[in-house]
Amino acid sequence: MAYFKNTELLPERRGPAVVVSKSLDQNEQKSRAGRRGRRFGRISRQGFLFWLLSLGVLLFMYLAYFGLKMHFHGAVSSLGDVKEKLVKNAPEQSWRKPHRQRFSPCEVPFLDSVTYLLEPKDNVKFAHFSLGYIETEEKTPLNEARFGGHQTLEGREESYHAKNQTIYCGFVRKPDGYLNTGFDVDEKDKKYMNRCSVVVSSCIFGSSDFLRRPSRKVISEYSKKNVCFVMFVDEESFVKLSGDGNIPDENGNIGLWRIVIVRNLPYEDLRKTGKVPKLLSHRLFPSSRYSIWLDSKLRLNADPMQIIEYFLWRAGSEYAISNHYARHCVWEEVLQNKRLNKYNHSAIDEQFHFYQSDGLTKFDSSDPQIHLPSFVPEGSFIVRAHTPMSNLFSCLWFNEIDRFTSRDQLSFAYTYLKLRRLNPNKHFYLNMFKDCERRAITKLFHHRLP
Ligand SMILES: *[C@@H]1O[C@H](CO)[C@@H](O)[C@H](O)[C@H]1NC(C)=O
Ligand SMILES: *[C@@H]1O[C@H](CO)[C@@H](O)[C@H](O)[C@H]1NC(C)=O
Repeated sequence: MAYFKNTELLPERRGPAVVVSKSLDQNEQKSRAGRRGRRFGRISRQGFLFWLLSLGVLLFMYLAYFGLKMHFHGAVSSLGDVKEKLVKNAPEQSWRKPHRQRFSPCEVPFLDSVTYLLEPKDNVKFAHFSLGYIETEEKTPLNEARFGGHQTLEGREESYHAKNQTIYCGFVRKPDGYLNTGFDVDEKDKKYMNRCSVVVSSCIFGSSDFLRRPSRKVISEYSKKNVCFVMFVDEESFVKLSGDGNIPDENGNIGLWRIVIVRNLPYEDLRKTGKVPKLLSHRLFPSSRYSIWLDSKLRLNADPMQIIEYFLWRAGSEYAISNHYARHCVWEEVLQNKRLNKYNHSAIDEQFHFYQSDGLTKFDSSDPQIHLPSFVPEGSFIVRAHTPMSNLFSCLWFNEIDRFTSRDQLSFAYTYLKLRRLNPNKHFYLNMFKDCERRAITKLFHHRLP
């Protein structure tokens, strides 16, 4: 790229020089014509002027040449500087200017067909342990039932250990069953969700997006029959969608999406509420073994089984998420969040300082211990096998969001690094793939303006 840029620059630079010499030629011709026209009187003066000018030019060139020679060292080094600047600037230019190029999709070598796809036998390399979830909490003040429960800091520390245990993972209720903490769905939807084994899900809360239907022509017949496509919406968004003419059929479907209305939202912050279906698909779909999450600003443009085969099975991983297209360090992400006023600044600081005091470091790509191409994910597209380690990570990540801010990009690396640090003998097979691949399989739309 840089090479092409430089060679492209050269003719442009030569351009003006060529023009100059051309116009000199024209001047010369004009002055010749003048000479022919008026033989005497002016000839000598024009000729004189012409020669004087030429002499001046020659003198200038002479001086320039020897001036250069005289300042040989300085000149060379400054030429060197120019070259260096060109080389240095080139990537920066391509970094800024061709927006499309930098954020363009790249090829994803999917299988041609999913017809003869075979799920790998239960992958023995994945960590085996048994995870339970806290369903009810007794000793909480009556009015303080929380969807995320009341996890202590000691309990939080313990929960990071990959072992048989029962942890907080949302959906915490009061034992009497009356005080529901939220994320309620109809019984018939619940029945449907309980049967799903492979899920594609998304959500629209607060009418933040239009409904983007998966591109039907790329979805295989197998997936149309066997994969659950579930779009969670709140009542407000449901009304808005209906206003757009999106009316579910008798099965509750709009195209491939099954529309599931969520009532009694667990958080006032809709972005926090959105993290429930995003991170807790193993809880919402208890018998599912694979799930794909996509933000509602994305349209799915590939077959779910092809996606699972490529990002999980072929990569030997149990969790796949793309890295952020521009930022790799949580420090940068914090600044960006504040710059765009994404969240209460002091809440961000509180979370960030907590993480720093518990070992979060700046991203250093040369550190061999990291095994991550970036500390900042582009979390709008996640592919998961519902293995114990993957489920544990999802719960831990969700608990960070429940405890701190809804900005999941701030807590991703911390959660991942802490999980690895506390479980040196149990690997977590996370595949952080290139963002250009995400772009290849999803189409990005703008959010709906209020
Ligand atoms: C963990 O749970 C599994 C299945 O429930 C059981 O087979 C295993 O023995 C348990 N491991 C420990 C260390 O308790
Ligand atoms: C911002 O966060 C701080 C610390 O978490 C909290 O005390 C404060 O009430 C929040 N401010 C607003 C406007 O939400």
